[in-house]
Amino acid sequence: MNERFPPLFRLWHWLMAFSIFGILFTVLLRMTFLDKKEVAAILLKKLGAMGVTLTSEQAIAAAKAIRAPMWEWHYIFAIFLGVAIALRIVAMLRGDAKFPLLKLLRAKGLHEKGKAAIHMLLCLTVALLALSGTFYYYHDALGFAKDSVHWVKELHETLLWPLLLLIAAHIIGVILHELTTKEAIVSRMIHGDEVK
Ligand code: HEM
Ligand code: HEM
Repeated sequence: MNERFPPLFRLWHWLMAFSIFGILFTVLLRMTFLDKKEVAAILLKKLGAMGVTLTSEQAIAAAKAIRAPMWEWHYIFAIFLGVAIALRIVAMLRGDAKFPLLKLLRAKGLHEKGKAAIHMLLCLTVALLALSGTFYYYHDALGFAKDSVHWVKELHETLLWPLLLLIAAHIIGVILHELTTKEAIVSRMIHGDEVK
């Protein structure tokens, strides 16, 4: 492998970043404007003022129905993420990308090791999110009762926080690299290794 950023590697990276930002947007909406308790409270208040009374269970059910079309996008972006993960596996098998753990083990010097560790943890966190999310999505079809797989949902939700931290560290690292070297990694990550 001569190119540092071959086309398949770049395609994997940006498809994954696009799908993760999409997924994060659905999570942001679910936790804020479309939070079921917030929406239920608005429904209870507004419909109450119009003389329509609802129980809190009914209000929550209506709030979930309002949120549902938006949340569908969590799963649509999840499909893009699945394609991105498949591309990364193909890229590693073709020699267009490194295996994250091998890259960490072979990294020389503290700086290279730190960078490789963040890359490895990012890949691991994304893989665990994809596995836990897919497993939870299909738990019924796989014959698991909802209660018995609650820990999977909790794991999936908890992984959000390390993911956000790692993405922040990654982007700060990339910006610092961009500002302190002449390697132009961001533009090369877009158009390839040749400076055009
Ligand atoms: C969801 C967001 C993102 C994730 C999960 C992510 C993940 C990764 C991973 C795992 C690598 C290492 C690839 C490897 O060598 O095996 C990488 C490299 C890289 N990423 Fe990202 N990335 C994200 C967003 C971004 C953004 C927004 C930028 C641009 C500002 C960016 C720029 C780069 C660059 C330039 C590299 C190459 C770094 C180098 O090898 O020196 N990434 N990214
Ligand atoms: C970057 C990747 C992902 C992140 C950061 C993420 C984050 C989250 C978060 C934070 C929640 C909990 C939302 C809440 O209850 O407030 C959630 C729920 C869920 N996610 Fe993901 N997710 C990701 C990928 C996936 C993938 C690939 C799937 C596969 C289909 C998936 C399926 C689910 C399912 C089934 C739920 C439970 C929904 C429910 O109980 O209503 N997620 N996700």
